[in-house]
Amino acid sequence: MQKLLIEGKKTLSGSINISGSKNSTLPILAATIFNNYTKIKNIPLVNDIFTMLDLLKFIGLKYKLSKKKHSVEVINDEKNINTVAPYKLVKTMRAGVLVLGPLLAKYKKAKVSLPGGCAIGTRPVDLHLFALKKLGAKINIKNGYILATAINGLKGTRFKFPTISVGATENAILAAAQAKGTTIIDNCAIEPEIIDLIKFLKKLGVKINIEGRKIKIKKPIKRKKISYRVICDRIELGTYLIGGALIAKKLRLNNINPNLIKKEISVLKKMRVKMSVGKNYIEVFKSRNIKNINITTAPYPGFPTDMQAQIMILMTQAKGLSKIKESIFENRFMHVPELKRMGAKIEISNNVANISGPSTLTGAEVMATDLRASVSLVLAALIADNRTKINRIYHLDRGYQDLEKKLIKCKAKIKRV
Ligand code: EPZ
Repeated sequence: MQKLLIEGKKTLSGSINISGSKNSTLPILAATIFNNYTKIKNIPLVNDIFTMLDLLKFIGLKYKLSKKKHSVEVINDEKNINTVAPYKLVKTMRAGVLVLGPLLAKYKKAKVSLPGGCAIGTRPVDLHLFALKKLGAKINIKNGYILATAINGLKGTRFKFPTISVGATENAILAAAQAKGTTIIDNCAIEPEIIDLIKFLKKLGVKINIEGRKIKIKKPIKRKKISYRVICDRIELGTYLIGGALIAKKLRLNNINPNLIKKEISVLKKMRVKMSVGKNYIEVFKSRNIKNINITTAPYPGFPTDMQAQIMILMTQAKGLSKIKESIFENRFMHVPELKRMGAKIEISNNVANISGPSTLTGAEVMATDLRASVSLVLAALIADNRTKINRIYHLDRGYQDLEKKLIKCKAKIKRV
């Protein structure tokens, strides 16, 4: 198993090109099931994307990946289609469940493995199934699989999600895009990745309006040869922004859209992080006198749960007590015991982490538990005394393209062994 060895306290300087969004590319890849020929540009070369491509291949689609151009061409020639997403692929990546909507809408049946829980929480898919049933699907659960049928096709309808879910909103939009008639869904997630999926579907002729958390979908898909460029990865951007605030003389983050992280920028500014925000770049500088702050994670436009572990590292360097309330996932503080072993002063009470700072972090051997927890350990290691050894880094490879290459280019001392 690979590990990262990181020598701390090396000042970063230079620039990093931010990759395309993993969480945009995943539902857009699922949507390629609808079309005969789709080219997707600016895709991140990370393992979750490769798993989704494997899944599309299992279903019967063909793809040509250009690692050099960061693009993929996906072809559905309608030959040998298998409307199944097997356990072996969905268990390694929950987003595999996003093929359920397109398969069901287009082929009127789908058999998709239930993803099961994961390290950050139980993560059920009841809201995905709720939406598909509203659109007319019949659903049974058997032998760990979701068996869905819609013999006469899906039909447009009106419903409201009882709670906000990113994945369920995506599956619902995907299914509604090929349903007969108009669908109006209320209490939707409106993350930038969902807006990106909507823009993609609009290129395929689907008419979609968004008003607050209400999304209206009409006019089904028209198959067309299209090319689409995904947005930048706002979580990767936020991660390096915090890295820069912790330990960069000057770090420039390129190929970005700062409007995607307005909330994060406002929180970091309140914490007195020094940065200069351009139209498609941000420059960030090591910031002294970091101020403590309290945040609560929330659906977009709130502070993202995917940035919670990373901002915690900045809070260990802030003067006074900072608090994070995790309101999305029930078990997303697994990085805390590892950070405490590095000298962080953090106490957890229910879903609130209390972080006292500033504290001196020291290198240690630590264990990565999920994608964002892993990257928070990398940020901690960058500012720690001595060397940190991070085990189980395969989590990082699921979502951060060339993490150590990007950091080494900015003078970090990191080795993968
Ligand atoms: C997406 O996961 C992201 N994944 C996650 O990013 C992100 O943390 C999460 O949204 C929240 O922003 C992708 O986009 C591929 P949810 P998703 O459905 O869609 C509960 C990362 O690190 N829920 O919005 O699975 C659920 O348990 C990943 O890149 C139900 O109860 O998240 C959670 O408490 C990790 N029933 C809450 O809703 C359901 O049917 C929000 O989950 C669905 C969800």
